[in-house]
Amino acid sequence: MFFLLLLCVCGLLVRGDAQDRAALWRGNDRSGRCQYTFTVPSPVEASCPQTGGPEMEGLKARLSMLEVLVSRLTGGDAGGPQGAGARAQPELQEALTRAVGERNLLQGEKERLERELEGLQRRMEEMRRETEKLKNKPCPPQTPVVPPNPSLQGSGLMRPAGGSSPMSHLMNRPNRQGDSSSSLRDSAWQYRSPDFQELKAEVTEVPAPDGSEDNTGCGELVSVGAPITHRKADNIEGKYGVWMQDPESVSPYGPNMVWRIDTIGSDVRNLFGYEDMNQLSKGFPSKVLLLPEPVESTGATVYRGSLYFQRRRSRTLIRYDLASESIAARRDLPHAGFHGQYPYSWGGYTDIDLAVDEQGLWAVYSTNKAKGAIVMSQLDPHSLEVKKSWETNIRKNTVANTFIICGKLYAVASYTAPDTIINYTYDTETSQGKAVAIPFRNKYRYNSMIDYNLAQRKLFAWDNFHMVSYDIRLGRQQAN
Ligand SMILES: *[C@@H]1O[C@H](CO)[C@@H](O)[C@H](O)[C@H]1NC(C)=O
Repeated sequence: MFFLLLLCVCGLLVRGDAQDRAALWRGNDRSGRCQYTFTVPSPVEASCPQTGGPEMEGLKARLSMLEVLVSRLTGGDAGGPQGAGARAQPELQEALTRAVGERNLLQGEKERLERELEGLQRRMEEMRRETEKLKNKPCPPQTPVVPPNPSLQGSGLMRPAGGSSPMSHLMNRPNRQGDSSSSLRDSAWQYRSPDFQELKAEVTEVPAPDGSEDNTGCGELVSVGAPITHRKADNIEGKYGVWMQDPESVSPYGPNMVWRIDTIGSDVRNLFGYEDMNQLSKGFPSKVLLLPEPVESTGATVYRGSLYFQRRRSRTLIRYDLASESIAARRDLPHAGFHGQYPYSWGGYTDIDLAVDEQGLWAVYSTNKAKGAIVMSQLDPHSLEVKKSWETNIRKNTVANTFIICGKLYAVASYTAPDTIINYTYDTETSQGKAVAIPFRNKYRYNSMIDYNLAQRKLFAWDNFHMVSYDIRLGRQQAN
C-alpha cells in the first residue's frame, strides 16, 4: 500500500518537475486525522494577480481529484481495490499509533520542562527576595580605626603576617613599580558603593608610618603550614583544577566569594562561584558561569572583579569581567610557549601560569629566547600588556609549580612527593635567584595548582581532586 502511495507521489513529483515543481505533504491535522496537501506552482503565472480566480478553481478541482485518489489509495473510501485497502489499514493504523505515541512523549517532555522552568523561576524569585532583604539590612558597624580594605572585610580567615596589624598591610600596598597611582586609588574603586568612596577618603588621611620599620607585611617566605582540605571534587573533571578568591573583589561579588574551575576536559568553560569557603566545602555553588572561550589548564586567577585565563591552545590571555559576564580584554602574551611547550614538570599544558600578589598581576611562562627558563612578566591588569619582564635561570619543566609573594617567585620541587621542598626563589626587586629549602607537603600526591592568595595570606592548591590551603609565615623584609 505504501508502495502504491509512494509510486503515486513519485509520479506526481516527476510530473511536477516537468512543469516546475510540485509537492505533496502528509501530516496530522488538529484532530489527529491524516491530511494530504498538494501544491503546484502555476504553469503560466509568476505571481497571483488575485486569489480565487479561475486558476484557483482549477487548482481546487485538481486538488479534490487528488484527494479522492489519495483517499482511495489509502483505502479509506469505497470503490478502491478492496484487497489493497484492507492490507493498508493496519499499517497506517500502526504508523498513526506510533506518531500519536511520539507526540504524547514530546508533550510529556514539554510539560516536564515547563515544570522545571517554573521551579527555577520560583527559586530565582526567592533569591531576588533574599538579596533584597540582605541589601536592606544595615551594615555591621565599622570600627573607625580599621580601614575598609575590601579585601580584608569579612574574611574571618585573614591573618596578618608577622604580627603586623591589618592596617599596616593596607597602608603599604606596595607600589614599587613607581607608578604614581596608589592602589588605594585603583580604578576598581569607582565601581564600589559610595560608602567605600567616603571611607577611602578617611583612610588616605591616616598618617604614613615613619619608615623606620617595615609595615608592608611583605617579606621572605619562612615556612608553609600543613595543607587544610576544603573540598574534594566529585568527578574526574576535578582531578586537576584551579580555585581562587579575588583579593580585591568588585561588586556584585564580595571578598568571600570563591571561584573554581575543574580543568580536565577538552572544552573547559564552567566557572563555579561559591558564596564563601563554607559553601565551597558543602559543594553548593551560587553562580555558574559559562565562559565564552575555553580555558587551558590550571593557570587562571581572579583579580579586581575579573577572571584572567589562558585561552585553550593559544598564548592568548583573556580578562573576563565577572560582573558583566563578558570578555573585557584579550591579548597575546608575546613569544610565550603554550600547549605543552614549556609546562611545569607534571605537564598538563601548564605553560602559562597567572598569579596575583601585592604588586599586581603576573604571568609565569617561558619563551624560545629564554630556552625554557622561567620568565616572569608583570602585566597591566586592565589591558594585559606586559609592563616588565624578568628572566630567571631555572628551567620551567624542572619545577612542579610556582607562586609569587611580594614580587618573589617560589618554585616547588615535586608535585608528587608527599614531603618536598620549595627549592628556589627569585626576587624581581634584585633580579637575583637563589636556592632555598622550605618544606612543603603534597598531601594527596598530585599537586596541579599552587597560588598565593594575598587577601587570606595563604597558598591555595589543587592536589589530586582536593582543594587545599596552606598557612604561610613571612619573615621581615631584608634590609636593602
Ligand atoms: C629543585 O628541584 C628540582 C626537582 O628535584 C630540580 O630539578 C632543580 O634543579 C632544583 N632546583 C634547585 C635550584 O635546586
